[in-house]
Amino acid sequence: MTDRYQQFARSGVGRQIVRRLGLPNPVPLRRFSPDQTAIDGPALVGGNGRLGDTVASVLKALGAEVADGERYGALVFDATGIDEPAKLRELYDFFHPVMRRIGTCGRVVVLGTPPEGDSRAAIAQRALEGFTRSVGKELTRGATAQLVYVAPGFEAAAESTLRFLLSAKSAFVDAQVIRIGTLGGQSVEPEDWDKPLRGKVALVTGASRGIGASIAEVLARDGAHVVALDIPAQGAELSEVANRVRGSSLQLDITAQDAPAELVRYFTERHGGVDIVVHNAGITRDKRLANMSDGAWDSVIAVNLSSQLAVNDALLDADVLRANGRIVGVSSIAGIAGNNGQTNYATSKAGVIGMVDAYAPVLAARGATINAVAPGFIETKMTAAVPLFVREAGRRMSSLAQGGLPVDVAETIAWYASPASGAVNGNVVRVCGQSLLGA
Ligand SMILES: NC(=O)c1ccc[n+]([C@@H]2O[C@H](COP(=O)([O-])OP(=O)(O)OC[C@H]3O[C@@H](n4cnc5c(N)ncnc54)[C@H](O)[C@@H]3O)[C@@H](O)[C@H]2O)c1
Repeated sequence: MTDRYQQFARSGVGRQIVRRLGLPNPVPLRRFSPDQTAIDGPALVGGNGRLGDTVASVLKALGAEVADGERYGALVFDATGIDEPAKLRELYDFFHPVMRRIGTCGRVVVLGTPPEGDSRAAIAQRALEGFTRSVGKELTRGATAQLVYVAPGFEAAAESTLRFLLSAKSAFVDAQVIRIGTLGGQSVEPEDWDKPLRGKVALVTGASRGIGASIAEVLARDGAHVVALDIPAQGAELSEVANRVRGSSLQLDITAQDAPAELVRYFTERHGGVDIVVHNAGITRDKRLANMSDGAWDSVIAVNLSSQLAVNDALLDADVLRANGRIVGVSSIAGIAGNNGQTNYATSKAGVIGMVDAYAPVLAARGATINAVAPGFIETKMTAAVPLFVREAGRRMSSLAQGGLPVDVAETIAWYASPASGAVNGNVVRVCGQSLLGA
């Protein structure tokens, strides 16, 4: 959908008005394309900790120049060496002189140790969150800031996450806190980082349009065979998507009583198992609670939550989810912040976060992972139907001052799905441009 305000703000006269009145200035975000460099400009690395070698090897693999520059494509600070609050000053010393030299759509990544226990070190590490989220709010021109907590012993396992966050694939992910290795996990380096999902079979529900279609495209781009699932009424659009990604289509209502058994049968017979399951199908039936019908409540909980638990249990009980398997949920910032007129939807989406919390240890014990994305305002048919004023507020009330695209959600899911993300488990990452809602 067209963002007319963004077009206006980029025009000659619009640019001046936006600057004079101090209005939001949404710059076009740099998104992944195979023929551009991963990082747009030199990288500057600081801090003294356990992750120096990993950072150096990732920057080298991404072809980044580590040097002084006029404008930086990335600033990476290894804060794992900060073991008492006074040493937080190192953040100031590193970032203060270069904050104005972060390039358009530049990347800031702070690395820390999960703040567990009662030590001074844990207190100092917890403090990194306030720093990173504030930097996210201060950055302009599409630049983003993230904090990654890496458990000791999982330094090498941080590679897939660093590649994702430093690249244009994380365009709409901003001010997030990601935990690696806190539940263990094994990361498997792909033979080809451009096709990390080669040989994998992925199920994407609700794949006939919107975010689901984009997830199917990105997982297929990364090498997976995608089974695109949607309700029979969406059959024509579903076949189009499946053909486009050279995958298969499966017409099924995931709330049907026999859907879990049908999926077990389908993946066992056709593929001998499944590697990646993306629970993307979701519906809204908005009404204030006082006016809501019981059907609106029941259908939203059934599609957005209960059916997903039933599918997970069936796939796990029948051992259809293969070793190093991935389950990904699609929550929403409405599930974090709550939303007027969406008690049913927000309940279901908060439940998706509960699903991640509950299943993460279970999947860790099987060498698999479960994580979720929580999209903010994404430009789709769903958000095109929102009244203009609410739509504009949704777009601008974020650090990036614009809506995201379905591909932004899809790229985040592809990072979770990578065999190299085996130690990324139990996370809920917002894809929201640091929306103020629920933050
Ligand atoms: N668009 C946004 O801004 C946004 C924000 C936060 C979260 N989300 C979530 O992202 C996901 C995708 O959203 P979208 O905007 O692409 O929505 P969409 O309505 O365009 O697509 C959802 C798809 O799910 C399918 N579906 C619905 N019920 C189903 C069922 N019982 N069985 C199988 N398939 C079913 C629909 O037919 C549809 O193709 C949803 O879970 C949504 O809640 C979207």
